[in-house]
Amino acid sequence: MVPANSFREDVIAGLSLPQKALPPKYFYDAQGSRLFEAICRLKEYYPTRSELALTRGHISEIARFARKNSTLIEYGSGESMKSRLLIQALRPSAYIAVDISADALRHATAKLRRLFPWLDVLAVHGDFSRPLKIPMTQARGRRVVYFPGSTIGNLTPEEAHAFLRMTRGQVGPGGAMLVGVDLKKDANVLHAAYNDAKGVTAAFNLNLLARINRELGGDFRLRRFRHYALYNVALGRIEMHLVSLVPQSVNVGNYRFAFDAGESIHTENSYKYSIAGFRALARSAGFRGEKVWLDPQGLFSLHGLVAA
Ligand code: AVJ
Repeated sequence: MVPANSFREDVIAGLSLPQKALPPKYFYDAQGSRLFEAICRLKEYYPTRSELALTRGHISEIARFARKNSTLIEYGSGESMKSRLLIQALRPSAYIAVDISADALRHATAKLRRLFPWLDVLAVHGDFSRPLKIPMTQARGRRVVYFPGSTIGNLTPEEAHAFLRMTRGQVGPGGAMLVGVDLKKDANVLHAAYNDAKGVTAAFNLNLLARINRELGGDFRLRRFRHYALYNVALGRIEMHLVSLVPQSVNVGNYRFAFDAGESIHTENSYKYSIAGFRALARSAGFRGEKVWLDPQGLFSLHGLVAA
């Protein structure tokens, strides 16, 4: 399925808002994906390491939760260590990768087919923020959606609710979901994770403007914007912004956008949940929180949800 909005339309619409904003899904062009991988290796950025540690540490229990011969549906393309661990332990009868990036999807599924010749690997090109037609002909056993990485944190709680409801429809009665969710914690730890000393997160954020210049003929001058990330305690979310350092105007194609000094483009939310808070959200969307696993430091959670 092809997303209804194009990059250009989303950028023009987002920069026309009173609080300028850009959707975080556009971070991940080739350069952005490389920068995100570099973020995952930063000492300050704990989520990737914590989720891997908790997956390794609890893999047999996670596998028992999902049950053998299930159909595993991953949102995001999953050539990662975590997906491989899960497939090895779960022995699903089929694995379906859903991704918005055709390239990432092709690479990931090719790699998984090589690694697991016994596995029925399917690729679905699409945006998992909308209802998907998933081929279910080969599907046997329980449907389990795997949604790691706290990607769900990019959604507002209202959007996350709608997304979980849609997924609940997708897995059907008896279905389940494994979802990685970053936990609320000391604001200083969160602040450091999104304001790393090497400036990799800043480069990742600014690459969105570089991408607009590359693909849409924009004339953003990157040195006139600064990465700004804060933890909004009241809303329980990290907010990333790009702040204009001077009054300026920027052209994107035939459109012109004016910036005051200090005005920002809001580029990402990354919501953090308590265990009870996430379970309440899941429950309101038709899932019962059956299991939850944490890493040894208690920084990150993996929820095992079953259709209620
Ligand atoms: C991939 C959305 C989970 O929110 O932590 C990392 C993206 N942004 N550093 C996150 C991100 C800045 C990441 N997610």
